[in-house]
Amino acid sequence: MNSSGIADYSPYNEEYGCNIFLHEGFPLPPGMTVKRVKELMEFEVRHDDVFIVGYPKSGTNWMQIAVAKMSDSWGTCKITDNGRVPVLELPSRPSLEGFEKCVDAPSPRLIKSHLPLKYFPPKRAETKCKVIYIARNPKDVCVSWFNMNKAFAPINFSLTFAEYVERFVQGKVFYSSYVDHVCDWRDLGLDDNVLHVTYEEMKADVVSVLRKITKFIGKSESNEEVAKIAESISFEKIKGSREQFNAATLDEKVSPFLRKGIIGDWKNHLTVAQNELFDKEIVEKLKQKDVNMIFE
Ligand code: A3P
Repeated sequence: MNSSGIADYSPYNEEYGCNIFLHEGFPLPPGMTVKRVKELMEFEVRHDDVFIVGYPKSGTNWMQIAVAKMSDSWGTCKITDNGRVPVLELPSRPSLEGFEKCVDAPSPRLIKSHLPLKYFPPKRAETKCKVIYIARNPKDVCVSWFNMNKAFAPINFSLTFAEYVERFVQGKVFYSSYVDHVCDWRDLGLDDNVLHVTYEEMKADVVSVLRKITKFIGKSESNEEVAKIAESISFEKIKGSREQFNAATLDEKVSPFLRKGIIGDWKNHLTVAQNELFDKEIVEKLKQKDVNMIFE
């Protein structure tokens, strides 16, 4: 294991253009191992756990800061003084609290994950734990993630944006297919214990989303407190407090973790042909499954 926590046994893979851990052919981030997958399958989920889940770059850190701030007054565990929430599947390293922290955390726990449903601890279904699932326009996700991959030296990322777009629509990226991720978690939405929100909804009206979350968790929060928290988690405010993020050690000169924080940046990056490819391979499939969000 090198200092970044990236396991040496997740070698560079030509097809994916980076270091990657393939579990029975399924692309997971380096740092995950066969042992970790087994641990996830056996992970003891507690009734009062709250999970924040989303495909990477969907605004999960933003959500994590919002819920951590609200849960302060609910008595939910605060993992570190800077309010960082541990990530279930990743190994702990200096800039990130990982699996070991999740295991050790006292109840009630707040845990973040990018896992697709098939790798999420199955004991979830035996409990009353809550999941807040955040989704974002896949075109913006792709742009955001390309930039983060480029800035994270330990994965040896070598793709151009055009090459990355092709792989993204084929699901040949960490955590695999965007469509499967969103649809598999969405299908669980029939279950009362999963709340679905979007990045775009947060951008449009963060106060309403915070109220929805409060109701979902079954806690109360005054209007004044919600407004105060909403104000404190704006892009501009949290850009200056980077330590709250579970961000890998990024080369911020290549791309900052808090990059632009806007809707529709994909328009500055995707060609007409790439946009059509996205519409055909991702947007149409989501619409067929009645998954609706802003795709523009
Ligand atoms: P961009 O790269 O498009 O700027 P995640 O936390 O799931 O990795 O998602 C990261 C994305 O969320 C980044 O998108 C980041 O800038 C954006 N983000 C983080 N905090 C935000 C905030 N308060 N408001 C808007 N966007 C935010």
